[in-house]
Amino acid sequence: MDHGMKMDKELLQSLAKEIEGLKRDRKAVILAHYYQRPEIQDIADFVGDSLQLSQQAAQTDAEVIVFCGVDFMAESAAILAPDKVVILPEAKAGCPMADMVDAEGLRAYKKRVPGVKVVCYVNSSAEVKAESDICCTSSNAVKVVQSLQGHDILFVPDENLGRYAAQILGQSIQLWPGYCKTHDRLTKEDILKARKDHPFADVIVHPECRQEVCQQADYIGSTAGLIAYAQNSEKKEFVVGTESGILHKLHQVCPDKEFYLASKRLVCPNMKLTTLVKVRDALITLSPHITVKEEIRVKAKEALDRMLAL
Ligand code: 13P
Ligand code: SF4
Repeated sequence: MDHGMKMDKELLQSLAKEIEGLKRDRKAVILAHYYQRPEIQDIADFVGDSLQLSQQAAQTDAEVIVFCGVDFMAESAAILAPDKVVILPEAKAGCPMADMVDAEGLRAYKKRVPGVKVVCYVNSSAEVKAESDICCTSSNAVKVVQSLQGHDILFVPDENLGRYAAQILGQSIQLWPGYCKTHDRLTKEDILKARKDHPFADVIVHPECRQEVCQQADYIGSTAGLIAYAQNSEKKEFVVGTESGILHKLHQVCPDKEFYLASKRLVCPNMKLTTLVKVRDALITLSPHITVKEEIRVKAKEALDRMLAL
């Protein structure tokens, strides 16, 4: 280990210690998504996928929720737990996919297609959730779409996840043309090359990937689904088609297995904006504080509650 690396390790350890103390003083809980930096996952009280994190936010008895993820996740926590102080350590951590649909556009669509039921991926703003009938995450999208059988359905904003759910159910639904800029970087050619390089590996991918990628996969699932699959599989090697941060958890829970990222470009820049320094500062200043206008919050909560009730 060189001197620089030792310094870095010492700095990370001292920041982690400081955060631990501040967290106790503030009666805070730290929630982190699987795509966060390893050092953030290590200091979190709970690391999970979008569904698990919103369930944690809805249940916690902490006074402050420090959300290490992107803005729609902190907003969902603020919608579900209005009596808590919800902090997003990095205000600029957004989600380009969530920005691909807005409430105005959605209202115009609903006017054009009266009676359409809107299923809204949690990767969306509070305003869009407020205009939707029910939310979903990547781990329950199939179940949520199924719950609306017999209706005309519009799925926003992730075209790939919507198509995946519809295909599983053998159903046709209307798809909003949104996508994840990170998962979209993964191509069929990347998978074919990875298969050649690792012929004994299973290919596991997130449903936000392109259709051409999903068609090549042995398993498609949410981040929590991919982790469970790797844990329960008899296979020893996996090509992983989702954001790089998941490798930290995969190595922790399957220390005897090998994981290969399907493309080195699978890095979400927004998820990497949160650092230990920002978490420490957020706990000191209790900012950036995420709030949602009450009239929007109440309507958005109905869509989230319908999902959680399933
Ligand atoms: P999940 O946590 O539902 O797997 O979603 C992945 C994602 O892209 C979050 O931004
Ligand atoms: Fe948004 Fe994709 Fe990043 Fe998730 S990985 S926050 S969907 S851009």
